[in-house]
Parts: sequence; C-alpha cells; structure tokens
Amino acid sequence: MHNVLITGGLGYIGSFTCKYIKNVKRLKLTSVDNLSRGNSFAKKYCKNYQIDISNKNKIIELIKKKKINTVLHLAAYTCVRESFTKKNLYKKNNYIKQKKFIDILTKIGIKNLIFASSYSLFINKLNLEKMSPYVKYKLLIEKYLKKKSNKNFKVIIIRYPNVAGASLDGKLGEKNDFINRIFPTFIKLILNRKKINLYYDFKKKKYPSRNYLHVEDIASFNYKIIQYMPKMSKNLIYINLINDVFFSNFTIMQKIALKLNRFCNFRKKQLKKIETIKPKINFQKKDLLKKINWKKKFSNIDTILRTNLLWIKKRKGLK
Ligand SMILES: NC(=O)c1ccc[n+]([C@@H]2O[C@H](COP(=O)([O-])OP(=O)(O)OC[C@H]3O[C@@H](n4cnc5c(N)ncnc54)[C@H](O)[C@@H]3O)[C@@H](O)[C@H]2O)c1
Repeated sequence: MHNVLITGGLGYIGSFTCKYIKNVKRLKLTSVDNLSRGNSFAKKYCKNYQIDISNKNKIIELIKKKKINTVLHLAAYTCVRESFTKKNLYKKNNYIKQKKFIDILTKIGIKNLIFASSYSLFINKLNLEKMSPYVKYKLLIEKYLKKKSNKNFKVIIIRYPNVAGASLDGKLGEKNDFINRIFPTFIKLILNRKKINLYYDFKKKKYPSRNYLHVEDIASFNYKIIQYMPKMSKNLIYINLINDVFFSNFTIMQKIALKLNRFCNFRKKQLKKIETIKPKINFQKKDLLKKINWKKKFSNIDTILRTNLLWIKKRKGLK
C-alpha cells in the first residue's frame, strides 16, 4: 500500500483530493498544511499536520513516522495578481521554500513526487522578465525538478488548467479570500450589480479563451496518478491536463448572468501583451490518460457554474 503525503491538503484542490481518497479507502494519506490559506473545516477528510513545507526537522520526522513513499505536492500560494504586488512573498514561498522541500525529499529518499504546476505557463509567452512571479516560479521549480529527477526520484509534473466548481451538494468549495478566480468573481460582481472588466484584444477583436476542469475531476485524477506512479518507467513525465473545450471570459459572464437572471454590466480592457488569446498546448499524454482510465464526470461548464453558485450562495447565506 502507498503511504502518501499530500502538501496543501486543506487547500481547494487538496481538500477535494483528501475527501475523494478518504472515500475510496485504498491509500494511507497524511496532510501537511501550515494553514496560511487553507480551509480548517477540511481537516475531517485527512489528518493534517500544521507544519511548513520548509521545516526540515518536522518534515523528516513525519515522513519517517508515517513511512511515506509518495508525495503529492500542492502547497503554494496561487494568486497570479497577488504575486505581482507581493513579489517577495511569492519568491520565498513558491521558490525558496519549494526548493528546500524538494531537497528534503531527495535527501530522505522519497521515491515518487507529483508536483502541481499550472497551464498558465502556456497562457504567458515565455518571457521570464515579464511573466507573473507566480508563473515564473512554477517554471523555475519545473526546471529544478527536471535536474533532480532520476531513477530513484521519479517526478510527475501536472499542469492543471483553471480548476473550478464545488461539490455537487454545495458543501465543499474554495474558501480562499485572496484568490480572484473567474467564476466566484463574476458571480459576486453580477449579484452586486457591479461592473466587470473583461480582458479583450482590441487588435484581434477577440476575448481570451481559457480552459476549466471541475475540482472533483481533478481529485479523481490525482488519485489515479498516485496509483500509477510506482508503475512509471520514465524518470520524469509532464502532463498537460485540459478539458476538451475552451471558453471565453465573455461567454462565462453571459452564462452566469443568464443563470442568475441578471443584467451584466461590463467594460473591455486591453489584454496584457504577455498573455495569449488561447494557449497552444502541444502534448497532453492521451495514452497515459487512457492507461490510468481517468474519466471526467463533472467538467461541463454548466455543472461547474451550478456547483460554484451553490457554494457561494451557501457561504453568503443567499437564496
Ligand atoms: N486552483 C487552480 O485553479 C490551480 C490551477 C493550476 C495550478 N494550481 C496549483 O495547484 C496547487 C493547489 O492549488 P489550490 O487551488 O488548492 O490552492 P490553495 O491556496 O487553495 O491551497 C494551497 C494550500 O497550501 C497551503 N500552503 C501554502 N504554502 C504552504 C507552506 N509553505 N507550507 C505548508 N502549507 C502551505 C495553504 O495553507 C493552502 O491550504 C498549487 O500549487 C497551485 O499553484 C492550482
């Protein structure tokens, strides 16, 4: 049996992954989350140790005690916009501490690591000077992992798309006030009758299109990939995880307004030069996705929207 350490287990993706794994009962899971941003109510899905990933002694002690052999590493700060205003914070948490954590894992002999990266690498034109600190550090950690991976330290890098939605009953969702994700942001602005700034390329006359997967599908994917890791023959695999359809921010705004039966008030704002209209994603490891037998169940845009709405209404006490 796998003994798995999940970092960021109380975060958005982490809490859904812990809930999923708790239900399938086939893995022993331990979480490390310093609760700088997480949902403390998600503790019921997995035993959490409130430790920072950079705390060498405590991490080593826990890995030995729990006989951990595989790590699903989600812990990081995740707000692109915030990473511009708090560059040092992101450098410390998403770069320096990440490298330290990886060094701890290799030193203690962890065999398998799954690293949560982001498909925003493809949204930005790869220019380290101009890209957001959030994306830059994801890229630098990917490069560091490429250097460190070997037959004794196998690495899977998953580039998640935009993760969205909440549980079908609306009881679990994202509680991260620092994050301005598109669905909750648009829902709140439309409900409060505020103006939405929509990014737009005035030259190409196009809105940017983005890719979304439901968080429950991400959780089942994480489980399947953990199961797959011991069978992996390569030392390093990149997985660009995306849904079949891209949606423009304009379409999403319209869908939300329709669902809420409200008018949407918006203005167009020039898309940043570094951002693409629609990211070109070259390889998706379709053979591997087939091998692990992962099937999306909830990632159609209407389920994502409906569950997001349920969760927001529940949290805000709205009818
Ligand atoms: N949510 C998305 O749309 C998305 C998309 C692409 C990639 N990702 C990546 O997936 C991972 C998880 O994202 P999320 O949306 O669940 O984020 P989240 O902010 O909800 O969860 C991250 C968790 O990590 C914890 N954490 C942060 N720094 C820590 C540290 N130094 N030590 C211990 N714990 C720490 C926080 O307390 C939080 O609970 C991140 O690495 C993120 O970059 C997320």
